[in-house]
Amino acid sequence: MSILFVGDIVGGIGRRTLLSLLPALRERLSPTFVVVNGENAAGGLGITPKIADGLFTAGVDVITLGNHTYRHREVYPYLDQHERILRPVNFLRGQPGHGTCVVSRESTRLGVISVSGNLYMNAGRPAFTEVDAALHSLKGQVDHVLVDMHAEATSEKVGMGWHLDGRVTAVVGTHTHVPTADARVLPGGTAYITDVGMTGPRGGVIGVKREQALESMITRMPVKFETSEEDPWLNGVLVRTGGKLHAEAIEQVLEPAGVS
Ligand SMILES: [Fe+2]
Ligand SMILES: [Fe+2]
Repeated sequence: MSILFVGDIVGGIGRRTLLSLLPALRERLSPTFVVVNGENAAGGLGITPKIADGLFTAGVDVITLGNHTYRHREVYPYLDQHERILRPVNFLRGQPGHGTCVVSRESTRLGVISVSGNLYMNAGRPAFTEVDAALHSLKGQVDHVLVDMHAEATSEKVGMGWHLDGRVTAVVGTHTHVPTADARVLPGGTAYITDVGMTGPRGGVIGVKREQALESMITRMPVKFETSEEDPWLNGVLVRTGGKLHAEAIEQVLEPAGVS
């Protein structure tokens, strides 16, 4: 069994990149499950029901989100109604949506948990204790668990990897949009990477047109940001599972799109 996890899909260019590469990746890697982070899928920020439906139609099993979850109001009821789209589990209980789900394929049950870091992030409840509670709620219902740790600080993501080592199949970091070089299986058997990266334009600044990002950085004045279309890549990881709640291997999947 294996899980292809695809990092933050940025805008239409990110969606087109995923859709164009997915058939060949399925052929080459034969992932049992495909999980994507979709928090930037709608014009670079947030997600809409139509875009989420498009990803599910393309064969995505689970969509995880992050700090941009609530950018588009129209998605609020959708988050409550659709089981396989997740906002961080440690958002406030009163906020729309939920943070865990279980999907099954080939008689394997995969639990997915979305969680947000607390350092420089706006999650209303603590990541570490809430991920424990989420894990407890999945007990007896899953063979494997993948955790998307959506966080700014590398320290907090590394901490989450150690916190969950031996208790989940994989902890994959998202949000910073730049893949890190530390993919490995931790001693307890949990696959870990600090950041998977993004599926979007590498020619920009973590998704934004680079001239606009640079103008903002240089002038310190407000600048309208648009999604870059330059040099799109898919950034992901393939996790090969071992025994229950254990991983055998994690490898990065870094693919240029050739569709710009
Ligand atoms: Fe993101
Ligand atoms: Fe984010």
